[in-house]
Amino acid sequence: MSRVLIIESSARQQDSFSRQLTRQFISQWQAAHPADLITVRDVARNPVPHLDANLLGGWMKPEAQRSEAEQASLQRSNELTDELLAADVLVMAAPMYNFAIPSTLKAWLDHVLRAGVTFKYTDTGPQGLLTGKKAYVLTARGGLYAGSTTDHQEPYLRQVMAFIGIHDVTFIHAEGMNLGGDFQEKGLNQARSRISEIA
Ligand SMILES: Cc1cc2nc3c(=O)[nH]c(=O)nc-3n(C[C@H](O)[C@H](O)[C@H](O)COP(=O)(O)O)c2cc1C
Repeated sequence: MSRVLIIESSARQQDSFSRQLTRQFISQWQAAHPADLITVRDVARNPVPHLDANLLGGWMKPEAQRSEAEQASLQRSNELTDELLAADVLVMAAPMYNFAIPSTLKAWLDHVLRAGVTFKYTDTGPQGLLTGKKAYVLTARGGLYAGSTTDHQEPYLRQVMAFIGIHDVTFIHAEGMNLGGDFQEKGLNQARSRISEIA
C-alpha cells in the first residue's frame, strides 16, 4: 500500500483544467492501485497561512521558549510536513499564474521546505531528506511555454523538489488552455494521454 498526496491549487473549481487532470489521475490510479491511500489537500479552497513571526518563532525556538501562538502555528505547519513525509507519491496540480505558480501553492511550499525536517544543512551543503519519493506535476497553462525561458513553473518546482530530495519528478503540461483554434483540445488530450500512460 502506498500513500498518494494530491495538492490542488487552482482558484477555480468546476472549470479548472488542472483539477480535471487530477480527477483523471485519481480515478485511473485508484483503478490500478486499489489498496493505495489517496489524500487530497486543496490549498486554494483551504489556504495554508503565510509564513509569519509566530511560525518562524515556532520553528526556531526550543519548545520551552515558545509562546502559545508560536506553538499553535508550529502544530499547523507540522500537519503539512507530516503529510508530505508520509507520502510515497506526490501529485501537485499547478495552474500557471503570472508565469509561475499560484501564491497558495507557494505558501504550502514555504511550510514544507523545512530545515531539519525535509532538508538539512551539512558540511558539503544542503541535503534533501525526502528520499525514495516520486512526484507528478500536472500543470494547466493559458499559453505555450514548455521548454521556453519564460516557463518559471517547471524549473522552479524541479529545484524546490530536488532541494528536499525528490528527484524523480514527471511533469505533464496541459498547454494552450486559453488559446483559440484547436490548441485547447490538443493540449488537454496530450496531457490526458500522458496521465493514462502513467497512472
Ligand atoms: C491570475 C491568473 C494569471 C495567469 N497567468 C498566466 C500566465 O502567466 N501564462 C499563461 O499561459 N496563462 C496564465 N493564466 C491562464 C491559466 O494558466 C489558465 O487559465 C489555466 O487553465 C489555469 O488553470 P486551471 O484551469 O486549473 O484553473 C493565468 C490565469 C489567471 C487566473
